[in-house]
Amino acid sequence: MRANTPSGRRQLQFSVALSDLLGSATSNMTATTFQPTNEYSDITSQNARVLRSRGVRTMASVDATNLSQWFGRRRFDLIVFQFPNVGSRNPRYGRNPNHILVRCFLKSAAAHLSGEGQVAITVVNSSHYDGAFDMDGAVERNNYALPVAYPFRFSDYVGYSHVKTKDDGVGTVDESDEFVTYVFRLKERIGHKWITP
Ligand SMILES: C[S@@+](CC[C@H](N)C(=O)[O-])C[C@H]1O[C@@H](n2cnc3c(N)ncnc32)[C@H](O)[C@@H]1O
Repeated sequence: MRANTPSGRRQLQFSVALSDLLGSATSNMTATTFQPTNEYSDITSQNARVLRSRGVRTMASVDATNLSQWFGRRRFDLIVFQFPNVGSRNPRYGRNPNHILVRCFLKSAAAHLSGEGQVAITVVNSSHYDGAFDMDGAVERNNYALPVAYPFRFSDYVGYSHVKTKDDGVGTVDESDEFVTYVFRLKERIGHKWITP
């Protein structure tokens, strides 16, 4: 189930759905938005309240490419970015801006992973998005192993629907689209796992 609503209108929906699944394990969970609170819709504010009532920490105005600014030295077992999209086609450093977003997010997240920590990024599974995000290329500049891909099903997350970034075609999805979650782990951590007796 998806809706073509502009970004910002219905944020934190995935976090609410995930906290439903986690039950009492939400006390270590933090949910963030790029949007500041003064841009929250009523639905987003309601989602934030629901999350806080479940013990989830909520934070606004968090730039996923500079997590240390908000999280200091804090580390996480799992860092999730659902459908990253800058909502622009303008190249950055001569590359697709969404590739740069993912690359910078991975670099930033690396400093905040616990020993066995993982990063999960969900995108539309299509050749257009494959080319745009270039996940394999994004790990080359970082110290991650090649990601493992899993199918993502909205039906697993009750109440969650994809928020389209902008009505400019960049975030367009079709009913027939499939979705994929890429899971990344740092190379050195994988190496440690093998050599630890
Ligand atoms: C397609 S929307 C997905 C929204 C939401 N994650 C979901 O799954 O419904 C893309 C999101 O990427 C966010 N975004 C873009 N650049 C970002 C950045 N540097 N840091 C954090 N979020 C960013 C936008 O604010 C927007 O909410």
